[in-house]
Amino acid sequence: MQTERPDTLLYSRVAAHYRRAIQSGVLPPGQRLPSLRSLVRQHGVSLSTVLQACRTLEDEGLLEARPRSGYFVQRPRRARLQPVSEPDPGAAALVPDPTAFAGIHDRVSDFVTKCERHPVHTNLALAFGAPEAYPQEALKTAALRALRRHPEVLVSPVPPQGDPGFRAVLARRALAGGMHLTADDILVTHGCTEAINLALRAVSRPGDVIAVESPTYFGLLQVIESLGLRALEIPTSPSRGLSVEALELAFQTHGQIAAVVVVPNFQNPLGCVMPDEEKARLVALCEAHQVPLVEDDIYGALSDSDQPLACCKAWDRSGNVIHCGSFHKTLAPGMRVGWMTGGRWQDRIRMLKHAQSRPNDALAQITIGEFMAGHAFDRHLVRLRRQLKAQRERTAEAVAARFPSGTRLNMPGGGMLLWVEMPEGCSSRRVFEAALREGIRVAPGLLFSNSERFDRFLRVSCGYPCSAQIDAALARLGEIVASV
Ligand SMILES: Cc1ncc(COP(=O)(O)O)c(C=O)c1O
Repeated sequence: MQTERPDTLLYSRVAAHYRRAIQSGVLPPGQRLPSLRSLVRQHGVSLSTVLQACRTLEDEGLLEARPRSGYFVQRPRRARLQPVSEPDPGAAALVPDPTAFAGIHDRVSDFVTKCERHPVHTNLALAFGAPEAYPQEALKTAALRALRRHPEVLVSPVPPQGDPGFRAVLARRALAGGMHLTADDILVTHGCTEAINLALRAVSRPGDVIAVESPTYFGLLQVIESLGLRALEIPTSPSRGLSVEALELAFQTHGQIAAVVVVPNFQNPLGCVMPDEEKARLVALCEAHQVPLVEDDIYGALSDSDQPLACCKAWDRSGNVIHCGSFHKTLAPGMRVGWMTGGRWQDRIRMLKHAQSRPNDALAQITIGEFMAGHAFDRHLVRLRRQLKAQRERTAEAVAARFPSGTRLNMPGGGMLLWVEMPEGCSSRRVFEAALREGIRVAPGLLFSNSERFDRFLRVSCGYPCSAQIDAALARLGEIVASV
């Protein structure tokens, strides 16, 4: 047997060769690798180099060594993870006590302040993709074309609802989600955040109660708090979304609910999609109780499947659903372009938008409109969805391999977020702080509710391409979860 030290370059080359074959599926789970002797012959390297390559892949969770049988492609460890716990269907909705209410604002400020204090090398708390995942060059070309075709754009006023050409493109694309809109039904906004702000201002007054999913996106809790409203947290299933039964119970017991806000497709942080029959039930229930339904569909276009996901608005027959969207996740995180259709509150929303911020800049709208008019947007989405799926799977595998036993996870069918339930006794606050001290940022479960009940959860982002650095950060995060 040769005993010289393995050549670093050679063994990484051999490892890279088999890593690619495993990740592309050419070598499927359970497949036996050729014997060490034949690998030596095949690659013309020493036995120790081959062994080092196999051990590297074993450490990465891609191969497993079976005594006296050789190396085999590891079966996905994710299969070993249990899905995240379902909420108790009879659990009461949670409304903060207005006298003892420490709002989400304090938690988010605390999170932001701590993040600012520590330099970060790996950010697993983002809810959008890496800049390279978006069509930078094509958008630049579209912007230059927009300026050439509309040289007056920077000095002329924008129509109050937004650029008409852009709104026409949005109306055509809304058909895929089952919505029948005209350009006049659409109002362009500064991202989804402004759309939700306007929707809630149109349908409620300070002091009112707004029903939301629990857990929910902390930005929504911030909007609610900033408008002087109170969030009523409705139990939400990590696999089927908002519990319509629990909402119905809340309508009966709380009486005064001014609006419901829901993220039906790839909810943040759960990643779940409401089945169509639940979406239809939700729309019918809100209509029967005359409670406006605000729908945030910011992630809907990021499904792994080619089949477009329906929006709640598709079942709306009376204008009771306000639908909000944005290009922040799907096309251009650097452009604050969102949109909404306000149902029977459209006129009031237009007035509020005028009073609040006036119309959005035209250049960004015309640029996105130009880009979306052809097939470029669809081609970009196909690429982005494929990339996010691969990143989600690799992140889930790393969690399965590196987090302690008792960790639970649901695998969403789209989007860029994983909601991880840590074993009994873990605290997201402690994990967040310990990870931050080592330069790793992750979103603690505490941010997604006004209560403490998600302290055992972390939201892990899969927006950035997998890399050795992200793998190492996830491995370290697993050790931190095991130790705190
Ligand atoms: C569910 C949800 N809604 C809205 C937003 C914010 O959207 P925008 O950046 O378009 O204002 C986010 C961002 O993370 C989100 O996750």
